[in-house]
Amino acid sequence: MNGFDAYRAGGHHAVHGWMQAGLLDFLTAIDQHQKEMGVDGAVAEIGVHHGRLFIALHLLLSDGERSAAFDIFDSQELNIDQSGFGDRGVFEQNLRLHAPRTADRALIVPGDSMELTGAGVLERLGTRVRLFSVDGGHWADIVCHDLHTAADSLSPGGVIIADDVFNQSWPDVCVGFLRFLSERPEFAPFAVGYNKVLVARAEDAPAFLELIAARSAELGDRSKRQELDGHPVHVIGMPKPRPVLGNAPKPAPRRRWLGLKAR
Ligand SMILES: C[S@@+](CC[C@H](N)C(=O)[O-])C[C@H]1O[C@@H](n2cnc3c(N)ncnc32)[C@H](O)[C@@H]1O
Repeated sequence: MNGFDAYRAGGHHAVHGWMQAGLLDFLTAIDQHQKEMGVDGAVAEIGVHHGRLFIALHLLLSDGERSAAFDIFDSQELNIDQSGFGDRGVFEQNLRLHAPRTADRALIVPGDSMELTGAGVLERLGTRVRLFSVDGGHWADIVCHDLHTAADSLSPGGVIIADDVFNQSWPDVCVGFLRFLSERPEFAPFAVGYNKVLVARAEDAPAFLELIAARSAELGDRSKRQELDGHPVHVIGMPKPRPVLGNAPKPAPRRRWLGLKAR
C-alpha cells in the first residue's frame, strides 16, 4: 500500500480538519488522468489548518514535484472569520508522520493570502500548480482573491478545489466564488460534492466532468448531472434523501414476505 492509499484507508482520521474522505476517491481519478495526460506541476493549498487535505494532495506528488502550504498559521489575529486555526507545529508533525520520506518537499509559507498572488506562487515554487485547494479565509473578497491566485498559477490541465461554496455556515463563500466565475469566464466548474466545487479551464472541464461521472458510477456513489451558473456539473456524494414527514400519516408498515406458496 503506498502512502496515499494508507492515508485514504485510515491515516486521515488522525488529522484534525474538514476534508471529507469520500473526496479522495475522486482526487486519485483526477491525479491519474493528469499523469496520463502529461500534466505536471506542484500541488498547493491556501488554508491548511492541520493538513487534513494538504497531506492527501502532497502524497499524490510524482518524483521531482513539490507542494506548497499557505496559511496564516500562528498569526491567528489575521483570521478575521475564524475559519479553522492553522497551527504550523501540529501541521508539520502530521506531515512528517504521514509523508516521512517526502515531507521536505513541502514549502511552508506563513502569511495572509491577501498578500499572495499567482506570480508570487510561481516565484516561490518555480513551477505551476496542477492541484490547488482554496480553503483559507471564508469572506467573499478573500475567496475571490484566493481563487484568482489559484487560477493565475494553475498548470494547463490543472484543477482548483474550492471549499464551502454551498456550506450554509459560510454564506459569503458562494458570493466570492460566483464573482470569480464572472471575472474569469475562461474557467468552469465541473463537479460539486463532499463540500467542494471542482473547477478547471473551460476547455478542460468536459473531460474532467466525464471522468468524475465515470468514477462515481464505478463507486456506486449517489450522483446526478446538474447545472451551476450555466455550466454542466456532476454532483457527487449526494446524501440519501430524508423526507420531513411533519404531521403526515405514517406510511403503512411493509409486509414481510414469508415465502409461503399459494395453494
Ligand atoms: C477551514 S481551515 C482549512 C481546513 C483544511 N483545508 C482541512 O483540510 O482541514 C481554514 C484555514 O485557513 C486559514 N486562514 C484563514 N484566513 C486566512 C488568510 N487570510 N490567509 C491565509 N490563511 C488563512 C486558517 O488559519 C485555517 O487554517
